[in-house]
Amino acid sequence: MAKLAPKPASRPEGIGVIKRIGLFRRDMFSSQPARLYRAWMAQVRVPFYRSFLVNQPELVRRVLIDEAGNFPKSEVLSDTLHPLLGDSIFATNDAQWRAQRDIINPAFKGCPRQAFSCMREAGEAAIERLEVRSDGEPVEMEFVTSFLAADIIFRTLFSTSLPAETAEKVYQSFRAYQKTQPLWSIPALLRLPKWVPRFRSKAAGQHADAIRALLVEMVEARQKEIDAGTASDDLATSLMTAVDPETGHRFSKAEMVDQVAIFFLAGHETSASALSWAFYLLAMDKGVQDKVAVEARLLSDPPQPSDLSKMRFTKDVFHEVLRLYPPVPMYLRDAAESTEFRGCPVPAGSMVIVSPWHLQRHERLWDRPDEFDPYRWQTDNGKARKRDAFIPFSAGPRVCPGAGFGRIEGVLMLGMFLKAFRFETVGAVPVPVAHLTVRSADGIYLRLTPRDVPDTTSEQIRG
Ligand code: HEM
Repeated sequence: MAKLAPKPASRPEGIGVIKRIGLFRRDMFSSQPARLYRAWMAQVRVPFYRSFLVNQPELVRRVLIDEAGNFPKSEVLSDTLHPLLGDSIFATNDAQWRAQRDIINPAFKGCPRQAFSCMREAGEAAIERLEVRSDGEPVEMEFVTSFLAADIIFRTLFSTSLPAETAEKVYQSFRAYQKTQPLWSIPALLRLPKWVPRFRSKAAGQHADAIRALLVEMVEARQKEIDAGTASDDLATSLMTAVDPETGHRFSKAEMVDQVAIFFLAGHETSASALSWAFYLLAMDKGVQDKVAVEARLLSDPPQPSDLSKMRFTKDVFHEVLRLYPPVPMYLRDAAESTEFRGCPVPAGSMVIVSPWHLQRHERLWDRPDEFDPYRWQTDNGKARKRDAFIPFSAGPRVCPGAGFGRIEGVLMLGMFLKAFRFETVGAVPVPVAHLTVRSADGIYLRLTPRDVPDTTSEQIRG
């Protein structure tokens, strides 16, 4: 029987502005009303501009794909995230973004295949770390998956494993950074001119500095190896030596730190978020968990890239996780020129929000939208919605360049972990919160036991 996936409480109707601001400060989900799960569009009036949340597939397509040029990334992103991301590709626009994308695109050619062994080795190391802890005591899975995903991207970038103390530092700093709600800056949200002080939280600045300091260290060490001709042929070297095919432009050192920073952060925080929710959902649904475990026996020892084509049900499970818990919950854009949505004028300068969180749980689009049901992807409704209402990697020109990487990583890690362990819930239901990514308010605790002896009575592949 399908199970309900944890969902945060919506904002009660009719509460005042001050209370709404308080809820927004806690996380973006708590400040949204339940009707967004049914509406095609919603308009929020902010003092100096308007803000529109679009939920209708046709509108989402216009914003992300057909008229993407009129909906650049919101200035609020570059304004608020600059201390952490600098001028990295995630928040830039126009010619600067185009040049950055042209430089990084070649680095992704064939990347998922090369990265496969990094994924497998990081997965094996994570399983080994967990083996000693699968004694029945609950394990906090958000840290486990963050360490795992950071190790994967670190090995892919730098051809070496991530030291445990660096993993711990990055995890703690990023978690603390997210909790400061970096998008919450009144001058930035009100779009006050740049000379108006942003009054950033001191703690946010310190956490961003701590993360960047680790990345600067890595980039400098690699630059020395490139100069000495001893650098490994990996993603970091390809990014740091890449040349814009049209202009011949290379990244400066500051730009390189920004690009490596976004690869490291976007490349692990998103996958870590998806995997931690995946393990929770599987723990919640023993039937689905057992079916993935049976499919995982098809993995070779050690796993090979060709194994993934056999993991069809696990792929559906990962899709279902990305539907219920899209790691990036909302995409922020600005309307460069005035336009209209459903007959309603949208003035230039309006903020436009595409929310995969609401779209992918939309009550008018999905059957039983809050149920964890990987079998839905085989139905007509699932197949149709995959085309028009499933955008965990965004779409159009700003689509995630790491989507192929993320999909392979997700399916392979689910297979490897489910082959090794059984997962059980321990009572505490995690509450999703939306900061930069979707995380649980208080961690995700699960009990793990080794899956040495298969339970053949329940481990039958269904259908
Ligand atoms: C499950 C895993 C992942 C998910 C769900 C995900 C999701 C996303 C989304 C939704 C965006 C666009 C956000 C927007 O339009 O505002 C994005 C952008 C980006 N992602 Fe991912 N991502 C994942 C994994 C990765 C990986 C593994 C890498 C790198 C190895 C990566 C690198 C990037 C970069 C560089 C951008 C910025 C692209 C641009 O603006 O042109 N992502 N990602």
